[in-house]
Amino acid sequence: MSAADIHSYANPRESRVRHIELDLAVSFEERRLRGAAALTLDPAGRRLILDTRDLIIRRVNGRTDNFRLGAKDPILGAPLEIDLEPGERSVLIEYETSPAASGLQWLEPPQTAGKRHPFLYSQSQAIHARSWIPLQDSPGVRVTFSARIHAPVPLKALMAARRVRDGHFHMPLPVPSYLMALAVGDVEFRPLGARCGVWAEPAVLDGAAREFADVEKMVTAAERLYGRYRWGRYDLLVLPPSFPFGGMENPCLTFATPTVIAGDRSLVALISHELAHSWSGNLVTNATWNDFWLNEGFTTYIERRIQEALYGRARSEMEMAVEVGELEEELRHLPEADQKLVLDLKGRDPDDGMTQVPYVKGALLLRHLEQKHGREQWDQWLRGYFERFAFQSITTADFVAELRRAFPDEDVSEWLYQPGLPKSAPRPRYEFGSEPRREWTTQEWLHWLRGMPERLPAERMAELDRRWGFTKSGNSEITAQWLLMAVRSGYEAAYERLERFLMEVGRRKFVKPLYAELAKTPEGLGRARRIYERARPGYHPITRATVDALLK
Ligand code: BES
Ligand code: ZN
Repeated sequence: MSAADIHSYANPRESRVRHIELDLAVSFEERRLRGAAALTLDPAGRRLILDTRDLIIRRVNGRTDNFRLGAKDPILGAPLEIDLEPGERSVLIEYETSPAASGLQWLEPPQTAGKRHPFLYSQSQAIHARSWIPLQDSPGVRVTFSARIHAPVPLKALMAARRVRDGHFHMPLPVPSYLMALAVGDVEFRPLGARCGVWAEPAVLDGAAREFADVEKMVTAAERLYGRYRWGRYDLLVLPPSFPFGGMENPCLTFATPTVIAGDRSLVALISHELAHSWSGNLVTNATWNDFWLNEGFTTYIERRIQEALYGRARSEMEMAVEVGELEEELRHLPEADQKLVLDLKGRDPDDGMTQVPYVKGALLLRHLEQKHGREQWDQWLRGYFERFAFQSITTADFVAELRRAFPDEDVSEWLYQPGLPKSAPRPRYEFGSEPRREWTTQEWLHWLRGMPERLPAERMAELDRRWGFTKSGNSEITAQWLLMAVRSGYEAAYERLERFLMEVGRRKFVKPLYAELAKTPEGLGRARRIYERARPGYHPITRATVDALLK
C-alpha cells in the first residue's frame, strides 16, 4: 500500500511526518502567513525531505546551516532538505509564505459579498499545500495536526478541523496534506442540525441556510449506506465567487462556491458529492494522483446514492444523465491517454487530471458492478472496503485485489486501462421532456439547451430570451450554458451579461469554456482579452493558469 508518488520530493520511507503544530499570523497588508510549523517524525532517519513552493524558510530548529532549499521545478516546487541529528524526532520550521502562493487566494474587500473586509482562503488539492506549509505533500502521507491562527480583528479564522476555541484548531484523525485548509474572513455561523451548519458572509447566510437545509439528512442517509460518519461535525463554508471549484471536501468543513445557491436547491447534489468524500477520499484516499478516480469515481457514485435516498430515483437518474452527457461530450475531444481511469501524470500538473473521466466513467464502473452483483451484495462490499482501508491511502491495485477477494472472477482492466467506455457500460435512463415548461428543473433546462444546434440565428436567440428570460437567469448553470450559446451564435444582447459574469465568477468550470469559445474567432479573442485583462486580478491562481494558457 505504499506507492511512489511522482508529485512529491518527500522521503516518507526514511523520515515520515506524523503530526504538525502550526502557529501562523495572517497579514492581509503583506499577503503573507508568517510563523512556524513543528513537525513530529516517525521514523526519523538522517535526512528529512519536505515539499515547498515559494516558501521563505527562516530557520530550522533555530539554525540556518542545517537545511538546503533545492532548485524550483515549475510543477513540483522546491525540495527542502533538512539534516537530522541522531535521535532527533522533531523539527521546528520558522517560515513565511509568498504573496503569490499557489494555494492561497487573498481577496480585496470589493471581491467579497460584504465589500468591507478582505478574505483569505486556501485550496490545497492537488499539490498546493506545499505553498503554505512545508510538509510531505503526498496523499500517501497522513498527519494529525493542531493549529493556532492569529487573524486580524474582527475577522474569523476557520480550519478544516475541530474548532477548540477561537483561532485554535485540532485534527485528531490522520489526514492527507491536500485536505489541510484555512479561511479567514467576515463570516458567521448558522446551525442546520445537530452536527451540521453553514458559515458564510452575513449577506449570504440566509440564502445559504435555506439552500442547504437538507444537509443533516444527507449525512444520515450516507451513514445508513456506508457506515458511521467519523469526522464529528459536517459544516459548510460558502466562499466568495472567485473560488475556482464547485466544492472542496475539506474535512469537517466543505468549502463551496456561492454559485450553487440557485434559490431552489436544484444544485445540492454538489453537497452530496463533497459529503460523500467523507468516506471516499478522506477516509480511503488515493495513494497517488494517478489513482484520482478512486477518490472521484467512488464519490460520484455515492453522490448519486445519497441523492436517490433523499430525493428519489428519478431525480438522481436525471442528474446522472446530465453528467454522462458531459462525459460523452468530453470523450469526443480528449486524448486517448486521458480517457483511461488510471492516469499517467508524469511530467504533468495533477490538476490536469481533472476531467469527467475519473468522475463519471469511475461512477459508471461502480454502477456496472452494482448491477452485475446486485445492490445488496455491492453495498456490503462497499461497507467492507471503507472498513478495511479506513485512514489508509491506496492504489488501484489495492482496489482490484479487494474486489477479487469478494468476486474472484471479476475483471475490470478494460475500464481501468482502455480509453472510452466499455460496451457493457450502463446507460442511465431518463426521459427528458421536449416541451419547455416554467417549472422545469435546472437539469431539464440544461439538457434542453445542450440539445440545441451549435449555432442559432440571433433572431431565434432573442425569441428564446424573451420567452424564458435566460440572460436574466439567477441560476449559474443555466447562465453559463446560455452565455456559451450566445457566444457561438453572436447574440450581442447577452454580451453585457457575459462580461459581468466573467468579472464576478471565477469558478473554472464556467469560466474556461466561455473564454475557450470566445477564443475561436479573431473578434471573440479580442473581446476575451479585453475582459480578461480586467477580470484576471480577481481570479484564483488556478483559474488564472487555465485562462492564461487559453489566451496566450
Ligand atoms: N476534490 C474535488 C475538487 C478538486 C479536484 C480540486 C482536483 C482540486 C483538484 C471536489 O470534490 C470536486 O470534485 N468538485 C467538483 C464538484 C462536483 C459536484 C463534481 C467541482 O468543483 O466541480
Ligand atoms: Zn470530488
